Amino acid sequence: MKPFLSHTWARLLVFGLLLVLLALVWPTSVWAHGPADGGAKTDDINELFTVIFWMSVPVFLLVEGLIVYAIYTSIRRRNDEGEPEQVEGNHVLEIGWTVASFVIIAVVFVLSYRFMTTQYEAEADTKDVIPNLTVHVTGYMFDWDYDYFLNEGKNPEDDIGVRTRTKLTIPADRNVLLEITSRDVQHSFWVPDLAGKVDAIPGYTNTMWLNIDEPGLYHGNCAEFCGTAHWKMLIDVEVLEPAVFEEWLAAQRAAAAEFVSIGTDMVSPLPLGDALRGAGVFDQLNCGTCHRPEGGNFPSLEIIRRDMDNREGYASADDYLRESILMPGAYVADGYPNIMPPNYGDQLDAQMLADLIEYLKTVGE
Ligand code: CUA
Repeated sequence: MKPFLSHTWARLLVFGLLLVLLALVWPTSVWAHGPADGGAKTDDINELFTVIFWMSVPVFLLVEGLIVYAIYTSIRRRNDEGEPEQVEGNHVLEIGWTVASFVIIAVVFVLSYRFMTTQYEAEADTKDVIPNLTVHVTGYMFDWDYDYFLNEGKNPEDDIGVRTRTKLTIPADRNVLLEITSRDVQHSFWVPDLAGKVDAIPGYTNTMWLNIDEPGLYHGNCAEFCGTAHWKMLIDVEVLEPAVFEEWLAAQRAAAAEFVSIGTDMVSPLPLGDALRGAGVFDQLNCGTCHRPEGGNFPSLEIIRRDMDNREGYASADDYLRESILMPGAYVADGYPNIMPPNYGDQLDAQMLADLIEYLKTVGE
């Protein structure tokens, strides 16, 4: 019985449909990760991307065209049962595609190099652009700290630092300089709609300039595999109207001025704690990123509780937990690395610490 479609036509049809599908999917997936027009400094990257994209279109069409042509002719040949012509060596073609590839790569190299230097050298040169705001970005396993007015000291009120985590808040229409570093391993600060990736490297500061026209929320994430919870190092950039930003910052500074951190104080008496509020502190400091219920590379709350009950040399469970939070290196749970940051006390006041301890005591009860 003769099939509805001959094999040749059925194959060409399937192949054609695949090409159409590719054409539909490909541009959206490419553009979705390209920089949008949110940040003024992304124009260079956008332009570079567009130029290289259109350079690649004829190459794509040529290669795909030759593949389709080869498939079509080989199908015909097989049906005719003839041997294809055997060709060996063609100097004109070989020299041609070597030179053409070299020219294309050279052009891409020169274009990329030009944009690379403007992006990472000229912009970092604060002689050209005065930052209206400098924010120090510190990546660590597994979150980001954003410090405002760190060690600037030009005005007395600058001594009051403001630190936020996870969400970076900045004003629209202003030159914002980000000074990006890491406190442990290498991370990468990446908000696709605003700018290219900038690595966060311990002991080294990289810079990123932002000047964003559109207020709104922009999402990104760490773009360098940095450990088990790398996926959790999300970045939210909230861009506010300048006046709204000033209000936000004033409120943050007022709160910071009142905040008295507990540091590594192991002796001052603590106020009465509240487990429910403590659960909020646990959340706010992202403790659960490492101390997960199922355990893993870090002690789960179960393990912490077991050690708390078996403690020796501590006056009370409260003391044991207080030390574990404020000076995590003093006693390390068996079989786990000592990598908890030693400065959580800077982010806790006496009340928050008391609440957190109360919460930890109730877990698993
Ligand atoms: Cu930090 Cu991935």
